Amino acid sequence: MKYDLVDRRCVVTGANTGIGKEIARNLAYFGATVVLACRDRERGSAALHELVQDSGNERLTMLQLDVSSRASIRAFVRNLTAGGSPVHVLVNNAAVVCPTRETTVDGVERTWATNVLGYFTLTNLLLPTLRRSAPARVVHVASTSAGGLDLRDVQFQTRAWDAMAAYRQSKQADRMLAWQLAEICRRDGIGVHACHPGAVDTGLLRGSDATWLQRLLGAGRRIGLKTPAEGAVTPTYVAAAPEVTETTGRFWIDGATAPCKFTANPDELAALWRVCVELTDCDA
Ligand SMILES: NC(=O)c1ccc[n+]([C@@H]2O[C@H](COP(=O)([O-])OP(=O)(O)OC[C@H]3O[C@@H](n4cnc5c(N)ncnc54)[C@H](OP(=O)(O)O)[C@@H]3O)[C@@H](O)[C@H]2O)c1
Repeated sequence: MKYDLVDRRCVVTGANTGIGKEIARNLAYFGATVVLACRDRERGSAALHELVQDSGNERLTMLQLDVSSRASIRAFVRNLTAGGSPVHVLVNNAAVVCPTRETTVDGVERTWATNVLGYFTLTNLLLPTLRRSAPARVVHVASTSAGGLDLRDVQFQTRAWDAMAAYRQSKQADRMLAWQLAEICRRDGIGVHACHPGAVDTGLLRGSDATWLQRLLGAGRRIGLKTPAEGAVTPTYVAAAPEVTETTGRFWIDGATAPCKFTANPDELAALWRVCVELTDCDA
């Protein structure tokens, strides 16, 4: 499938490797102006070079962004929107699995800071730009590996550290935040979606604890892991397909909408939103 995105400016976080790089590659092939938002300049520049060479699309740039840092997100947004440049598509893809409990420069547990507050803050700071650029789209690369959200302890301050539990609750939150944002943006011409890329052979589990790594890889081997390019198919579809414009607040798997059990409780959605506002000083 090929879409015409020549007049679209797209941002992909975590675009230097894995699924994010393949989403950026697809958007580059579709002719979009693509901003690769990468935390490491060297790795980001290498990906940029590769994607420009492969796609022949010169309208690609790389901007440094650490989504786990409030200051970095603010600096990135200033650079990205300088001179009133539009943003039509934002793909919140960057994420981590942390083998041990770590905190960021902002003193927040790293999984929650990266996978949840990063998506929340970047999108909220870009909302004025997205509104101005409408029709626009926000895509959360989420997961079916989701659940166990504990709103009283999102940072594992009282629970014993469990990397997979922290990851799963972050991915539940990504799906819930997409739903909330979709509601907030319903009349703004901004579609907000979450999607599951499949079980993909990437570096996401690098350095992770062997017990659950083995468990996951075992499951992956049984069902067959996708390549990063295969994993990028659904996120790319949700970011680029014209027919997706007609919908918002959907969860996508394998190019089709799927039910999401995490969006049924408005009180829990509102409580999650409040937790994110409290930790970021940022709101829609
Ligand atoms: N792989 C799967 O089976 C699977 C399944 C379901 C959902 N997902 C989701 O797919 C998305 C992409 O994951 P992946 O599998 O492609 O993982 P990956 O290969 O580890 O890529 C993750 C990307 O996020 C970037 N990143 C991490 N922390 C960052 C930060 N603080 N600031 C900016 N960028 C940061 C990484 O940059 P560095 O290279 O600098 O670390 C990398 O570019 C994630 O949202 C993940 O939850 C993956």
